[in-house]
Amino acid sequence: MSHSPFTKPLVDRFGRVVNYLRVSITDRCDFRCLYCMAEDMEFLPRSQILTLEEIQFICQTFVGLGVSKIRITGGEPLVRNGALGLLQQLGQLQGLDELVMTTNGSQLATMAAAIKAAGVKRINISLDTLDAEKFRILTRTGDLPQVLRGIDAAVAAGFERIKLNAVVLKDRNHLEVADLVGFAVDKGIDISFIEEMPLGVVDSHNRSVAFYPSEQIRQDLQQRFRLSPLNDSTGGPSRYWQVDGSSSRVGFISPHSANFCSSCNRVRLTAEGRLLLCLGNEHSVDLKAVVRQSPGDSQQLQQAIVDAMQIKPEQHHFDIHQQPIIMRHMNKTGG
Ligand code: GTP
Ligand code: 5AD
Ligand code: SF4
Repeated sequence: MSHSPFTKPLVDRFGRVVNYLRVSITDRCDFRCLYCMAEDMEFLPRSQILTLEEIQFICQTFVGLGVSKIRITGGEPLVRNGALGLLQQLGQLQGLDELVMTTNGSQLATMAAAIKAAGVKRINISLDTLDAEKFRILTRTGDLPQVLRGIDAAVAAGFERIKLNAVVLKDRNHLEVADLVGFAVDKGIDISFIEEMPLGVVDSHNRSVAFYPSEQIRQDLQQRFRLSPLNDSTGGPSRYWQVDGSSSRVGFISPHSANFCSSCNRVRLTAEGRLLLCLGNEHSVDLKAVVRQSPGDSQQLQQAIVDAMQIKPEQHHFDIHQQPIIMRHMNKTGG
């Protein structure tokens, strides 16, 4: 976009440079993870979600404004028809250094190689347990062997890095953290442990009671592994540790116990085209309205995006001990 009037990077009121866009391409998912969704979920009708062409146009405009990393998320991104075609198009964008994806792994057994060929550099795959029965309970519908085949296909496809994501809940999977690290080490991949965030009402457990802090996990892991702190960052909120004697890193995403808002570099596009300025607040701008009012007008869209930076909140106010203040479930933003 050589004729852009905007030559500066996207910067918010607190001087934070936004160079990372997370894009939820569908709110639908073939799983119903306990921490993410309620049992009964209503999904958006097709007319309300962005078309793949609109998503591509918005992504291209963000890259023109200096965004160098795009993460495709869901729901489960790979259940959307045409997801692969979108990845192929995004993979061609000049100026986009990192096209990455977060998935539940259910479709990877057949799609991993094509996703890699499309230009996706790294992928994150959710995996909370290695016990098939527990996996079924935690995801309500998921099939562990299918996901494990997907992880193997991803390893074989040769992504630059693969990271597992485990949301740890006390008395559901907290006793498995060392086994999960052992699994990651065997596969030569990374793993992050995530503190559950209070997004939307869930009916299966009390989030306050299920809270299991990152520091506790790290202590648990030290019974079996030696971990050395690392300074490297992927431009995300994870703090990483190297598992000595292996190529694997263990990350901790700790929105409650170690807030990382001051270095936030990201904004999110929801499946319905809302540009969300923070995961833990509702400040947003309706980019779907902009692209549907003036299709193909990139200047108008650029202006809307630049203006949106002014309402990016300073920080989230998650409180695991209160009822959620954000009624939006995680599947709307993909994390
Ligand atoms: P990178 O950003 O590429 O390092 O990956 P990531 O680990 O952040 O991304 P992924 O999609 O795998 O998300 C893992 C977890 O991090 C999810 O639970 C996300 O909700 C959480 N997360 C990602 N970004 C943020 C953020 O800005 N704020 C908060 N509170 N959580 C985040
Ligand atoms: N809190 C923290 N992480 C969550 N995820 C889904 N819901 C929540 C929540 N309430 C995680 C998934 C996936 C990532 C994108 O977000 O496990 O790995
Ligand atoms: Fe689907 Fe991911 Fe939510 Fe699980 S966490 S229900 S896999 S969107």
